[in-house]
Amino acid sequence: MELDEVRERLLQFSDEAAQTDDPLSWFEELYSWAEGNSEWIPWDKGEPNLLFASWPHLTSLEAGRALVVGCGLGDDAVLLAGLGWKVTAFDLSPSAVKWAAEKHEEVLKLASGTVDWQVADITNTPTEWKGAFDLVLEVHLLQTIPEPERSLGSQILPILVAEGGHLLCVGRIRTPTSEMEGPPWPLERQWVLDIGEEMELSIIEEFELPDDEPGIVRYRAVWRQGAAVSQMT
Ligand SMILES: C[S@@+](CC[C@H](N)C(=O)[O-])C[C@H]1O[C@@H](n2cnc3c(N)ncnc32)[C@H](O)[C@@H]1O
Repeated sequence: MELDEVRERLLQFSDEAAQTDDPLSWFEELYSWAEGNSEWIPWDKGEPNLLFASWPHLTSLEAGRALVVGCGLGDDAVLLAGLGWKVTAFDLSPSAVKWAAEKHEEVLKLASGTVDWQVADITNTPTEWKGAFDLVLEVHLLQTIPEPERSLGSQILPILVAEGGHLLCVGRIRTPTSEMEGPPWPLERQWVLDIGEEMELSIIEEFELPDDEPGIVRYRAVWRQGAAVSQMT
């Protein structure tokens, strides 16, 4: 199947779901329709996200507890586990979670790493996750979900970060020439900055990557948690 056809199918699934009372249901539909063929999952590259994997602090931080949000097929989670992090990775789609766990089972065994794969929803996370993670990673989730779920999810992310921990988000920035027929919907720079408004902003960087179509601008934003938010109940 050609990339255009895969994209067309994704838009069909998401448009249909948008007419229902469960606008996020298309993720599960897409993963189960793909039946294990990752070429039909348009965002899956079969490797960790480049902007996450090249984050300069990734290898210098002390490995603690990490949460990978909307983990998809799990390559970012496995990278963290290989670096010694105790990883929880979750996705809304049960098929994605099962697929990720099966795909990485052998390599995790070989690396003596573990990932706790879970089905969960960023708009309604378990209470025990509050302030529990030294690193919370979100790649390309917020830009693929509509409002009000997007804002709700973005407000929950900082609450999950432990005192002294980091929140790292990667996605597309909206520009005057951005293609707006989503998903994905590129995000306003100010909207991205507001994700961690109660945290200390470490850095927000913008990138134009050689493999992207011209005009696509990506961001990598990192915040550090002070004492105030992680103590919220
Ligand atoms: C664009 S994909 C990105 C997947 C992965 N992070 C990557 O970079 O390959 C967005 C992922 O978020 C998941 N997702 C969508 N809504 C979610 C929600 N409310 N809570 C958790 N995961 C969600 C989807 O099932 C999908 O796997």
